[in-house]
Amino acid sequence: MAARSLFKLVSTSSNKLIIQNSLLNNVKFYSVNAANYEFIKVEKKGANNNVGLITLNRPKALNALCNQLMTEVGQAVEAFDKDKDVGAVIITGSEKAFAAGADIKEMENNSYAQCVSGGFLDHWNKLTKAFKPIIAAVNGYALGGGCELAMMCDIIYAGEKARFGQPEILIGTIPGAGGTQRLPRYVGKSKAMEIVLTGNQITAIEAEKMGLVSKVFPVETVVEEAIKLGEKIASNSHLINGICKESVNAAYETTLNQGLKFEKKAFYGTFATQDRKEGMSAFIEKRKANFKNE
Ligand code: HXC
Repeated sequence: MAARSLFKLVSTSSNKLIIQNSLLNNVKFYSVNAANYEFIKVEKKGANNNVGLITLNRPKALNALCNQLMTEVGQAVEAFDKDKDVGAVIITGSEKAFAAGADIKEMENNSYAQCVSGGFLDHWNKLTKAFKPIIAAVNGYALGGGCELAMMCDIIYAGEKARFGQPEILIGTIPGAGGTQRLPRYVGKSKAMEIVLTGNQITAIEAEKMGLVSKVFPVETVVEEAIKLGEKIASNSHLINGICKESVNAAYETTLNQGLKFEKKAFYGTFATQDRKEGMSAFIEKRKANFKNE
């Protein structure tokens, strides 16, 4: 028996890893170097603990995205991105709210000068720099900045009671973290214009029909389904996943011709990797590929 299989990660709780030795059946607690987060919970999920789960946890404010919460999300995504065991990351909220938007109380007294000179909300897009795929598992309200946060992710799964919307217009402002830019790319101009100019909420089923959401599930299973998806993605080469993600994202930044060139170069680049060789050899030898992320 390989030495590694003697030890099993039983669970993570706050800052502790609970590890069980299967021979001695004893349980040990190890401190992990996790940041002490106030507004998010961070765990590893899946049979191989290779899916990072970030749960927004500010229930009294329906997960309103205050500065501290978004700073923590950026830190947690960065930590999972650097963690070689993690192959995909999920961001979720509660059953009532994924996030009800940027924190209106926090920004109420901001001046234009403060926004401009202080780079207000500039750190929000930190998660879009992640190499690893990020899945949003949305239940309840995903409004304003909450909808924008979901759209910064690579895939959106929704519970059937989820509600998406950009209600900023109703409080005298406009979306400021991608709502006027990413939403039209997901759903087209007419639908995006209607959503941002009315502030109306759309249902999960409507969001799926528009292409904003990839799948809709019963409320209580959406996180579980996102973890299954994360596990499937994490079973691929993490290296090739990241290259693939970058290539899809290039479609939103370039002309078709530039994008096709980018894709071709990225495709050629996979031939410089061990994992491309291993994947093709495994197919020919009729065995499961053993990717090393190299
Ligand atoms: C601060 C918020 C909040 C928000 C809810 N709360 N949304 N606090 N910022 N965005 C707080 C409420 O003040 C209240 O606190 C508590 O959460 C519960 O909210 P209720 O309104 O009592 O709940 P409910 O009646 O169920 O209504 C839910 C809701 C509503 C429909 C989601 O809360 C709502 O309309 N929220 C605002 C949605 C919004 O406008 N989002 C866009 C924000 S602007 P107390 O202390 O009273 O109990 C934005 C800009 C993004 O996102 C641009 C850059 C990122």
